[in-house]
Amino acid sequence: MKQPGVSGIVTGAKVQRSHLKMPRLKKSQLRLITLCFSTLMLMAYWEKIDNNIVTHVKSFSYRYLLNNFTFINASFRVNPKDAVKFSNHRYLINQRKCGEKDILLLLFVKSSSENFERRQAIRSTWGNVTYIERTLGVTVRVLFALGLHPELEQREKLKMQLLFEDQKYHDLIQQDFMDTFHNLTLKLLLQLGWKETYCHHARFFMSADDDVFVHTPNLIHLLQGHSNAKDLWIGRVHRGSPPNRDKESKYYVSQDLYPWLSYPDYTPGSGYVLSSDVATKIYQAALTINASFHIDDVFLGICAKVMDIDPKNHAFFSGEGKAPYHPCIYNQMMTSHGHVSDIQEMWRRVTEAEVGHISSGLIWRLYCTVAKVRLLCVPFLSNSYPCKAAFF
Ligand SMILES: *[C@@H]1O[C@H](CO)[C@@H](O)[C@H](O)[C@H]1NC(C)=O
Ligand SMILES: *[C@@H]1O[C@H](CO)[C@@H](O)[C@H](O)[C@H]1NC(C)=O
Ligand SMILES: *[C@@H]1O[C@H](CO)[C@@H](O)[C@H](O)[C@H]1NC(C)=O
Ligand SMILES: *[C@@H]1O[C@H](CO)[C@@H](O)[C@H](O)[C@H]1NC(C)=O
Ligand SMILES: *[C@@H]1O[C@H](CO)[C@@H](O)[C@H](O)[C@H]1NC(C)=O
Repeated sequence: MKQPGVSGIVTGAKVQRSHLKMPRLKKSQLRLITLCFSTLMLMAYWEKIDNNIVTHVKSFSYRYLLNNFTFINASFRVNPKDAVKFSNHRYLINQRKCGEKDILLLLFVKSSSENFERRQAIRSTWGNVTYIERTLGVTVRVLFALGLHPELEQREKLKMQLLFEDQKYHDLIQQDFMDTFHNLTLKLLLQLGWKETYCHHARFFMSADDDVFVHTPNLIHLLQGHSNAKDLWIGRVHRGSPPNRDKESKYYVSQDLYPWLSYPDYTPGSGYVLSSDVATKIYQAALTINASFHIDDVFLGICAKVMDIDPKNHAFFSGEGKAPYHPCIYNQMMTSHGHVSDIQEMWRRVTEAEVGHISSGLIWRLYCTVAKVRLLCVPFLSNSYPCKAAFF
């Protein structure tokens, strides 16, 4: 709106200020500036974006067109005498018994010595084996896999605490390697090795992080459906993932360590399940392979490739993603990543009686499909389950 006559009565001060004002831009000029700015930004980042696209196109082509991973057999094999050096770490804390009973699932949680509170939260929620036995009538064993704290001073301090913790709960397994990101493959060998030695009879094996929420009731129902308990490797499957060549990244892998364009298929270490026979085969392969490849889940993929075992994708294993909070999701979720402070709250919600009713009846099912589409089928926003999970 114009205000006629105002310009005539401006004071000196006001005139001065109006001189300092930016020149008014027309809409077309504004658009041009925005365009230039966007182009500049794109040019500045293009190399990165471009690199990323090219890398992915290359690795996907490698995986889907060529799908030839015969190199793995030749290049990762080592003399079994050398391979065994990776897996013969001494036990500092051990459980020598897995239980006489028919164990459905041996569930290893990868933890660190200092994460006492996370372990405690897991014991009282999804890892409460007493609760599972009473409500579902199956035996599950939950164990925590640990190495040594990298700092000597902390290590000494934690030593007694861990012994006390183990006396109380009898669920820690610790070996004498340093507990670092680059030693995760050693921790995988601990888990598989312990299963072979002490718990061969467990029908399934699972490995999970200590910041993952595992919906144990749903998972147990899933496993009970696989009555022959054979030939199963299940999780969120990463297919045709390129090795990370960014030196700044935690996941950086050098050309020397892995010169090829794509990793074999694998399931992220946040949570996956193996049937007993598959766990055994993978362990056997691991004992013939150079375990200095430090990314544990990719290493498992390499071992599986040697044995010609393929993973099965399950839409409700979240990988690195976090499940949205919604009763229709709780009903089907298997794992969800990134739960530390909300673990008790999640457990309370997923075990609430009402959740069970929600899937029964056509109306509820329709309601849930709509709710899940709205939660999961949002491009670029949903970092949890894939859109197709909405229709399960
Ligand atoms: C896979 O690649 C190797 C060499 O890297 C080659 O010898 C072999 O014939 C290839 N196999 C197939 C099925 O393409
Ligand atoms: C595990 O569940 C049982 C049975 O529901 C319960 O009595 C017990 O307090 C729970 N344990 C923990 C550590 O919360
Ligand atoms: C892995 O653990 C071994 C044994 O403790 C140690 O010598 C090595 O430095 C560790 N490696 C890394 C990368 O932390
Ligand atoms: C395993 O691989 C690493 C890295 O590529 C290499 O330095 C080491 O010599 C290999 N070990 C054996 C026993 O071949
Ligand atoms: C890898 O090599 C081993 C022994 O040399 C062989 O038994 C196995 O079938 C090979 N695996 C693949 C996928 O070629």
